[in-house]
Amino acid sequence: MNKEKIIKAVKSIQSKTDFVPDIAIVLGSGLGKLADFIENSIVIPYEEIDEFPKPTVTGHGGKLVFGKVGEAKVVVMQGRVHLYEGHSPEKVVLPVRTLGLLGIKTLILTNAAGGVNPAFAPGELMVIRDHLNLQCANPLTGPNDDSLGTRFPDMTEAYNKKLSDLIVECAVENGIDIRNGVYAGMTGPTYETPAEVNMVRILGADAIGMSTVAECIAANHMGIKVCGVSLITNMAAGLSKTKLTHEEVKETADQATEYFVELMLKVLLRLGDAN
Ligand code: HPA
Repeated sequence: MNKEKIIKAVKSIQSKTDFVPDIAIVLGSGLGKLADFIENSIVIPYEEIDEFPKPTVTGHGGKLVFGKVGEAKVVVMQGRVHLYEGHSPEKVVLPVRTLGLLGIKTLILTNAAGGVNPAFAPGELMVIRDHLNLQCANPLTGPNDDSLGTRFPDMTEAYNKKLSDLIVECAVENGIDIRNGVYAGMTGPTYETPAEVNMVRILGADAIGMSTVAECIAANHMGIKVCGVSLITNMAAGLSKTKLTHEEVKETADQATEYFVELMLKVLLRLGDAN
C-alpha cells in the first residue's frame, strides 16, 4: 500500500480547509442532492486533490463537500470510482482512506443496486447488513501498513449494527419503507446474467451492485464504523421481463431522491445529536 499517496491527498485537503469531519457519506446514484443540504459548505473538486481518482461515469460528479448537518460534522463524497473503470482496488479505496486519516469515525456508504430478493421492488431502500465480496479482489492484498490497521481485520460486524438499526429507526419514524439484506458486490460493468443472479441469491444475497464492498473493507481495516444503504433501482436480470439499462437505473434513482435524501439527512441529524 502506498501511504505516501494517501498522505498527499490528506495534505491537499488540509491546504484548502481545516474542517475536521466526523462522518463521511459516499453518495450513490440518486443522492447527489444531499450535498445541497450541507450548511456553510466547503467544496473541493477531486481534480484539486492530489492522487484522488476521477470518476468517469455519467451521473457521478466528483467533489468533496464539507460542512454541517445540524450538529453533525460531515464530508460528502459526491462521486466514487469503481473497479470497472479500470482502477486498482487500492485506488478505489484511496478516497475512503484519505477521509480516514482526515479523522472520520463513521462511514455511510450508499449505492444503486439490483434487487435479487424477489420480494423487493424498484424504488425500495435496503439497509446493508452484510456483503458478499464477489469482485475477486480485496483492497488489502499486498503489504500491510500496520499504522493503518491490522493484517487480518475481523469482518463479523462489517456493517455496524447500531448504525444500521438507527437507519431503520429513522426510516420507520418518517414512514419510509425499508428493507434489510445482504449486498453482493460484483466488478461489472456488465449487468449480471440471470444465472449469476440466481447464484448470488442461492449464496444469500438480496441485492447486487458494482461498488461498496472495497470501501467497506478499507474502512473496517482502519477501525471506522461502517453502515450502508442500497437503493433498489431495478430488479436484477431474470427477475423482470425487461432488459436492464443505465437509463432505467438513473430514472428510478431520480424518482427516489426525495425520500432517500430525507432519510439520510435524518440519520445525520441523529448522529450529530448523539455526539
Ligand atoms: N446489477 C448490478 N449493479 C447494479 C444493478 C444491477 O442490477 N442495478 C444498479 N446497479
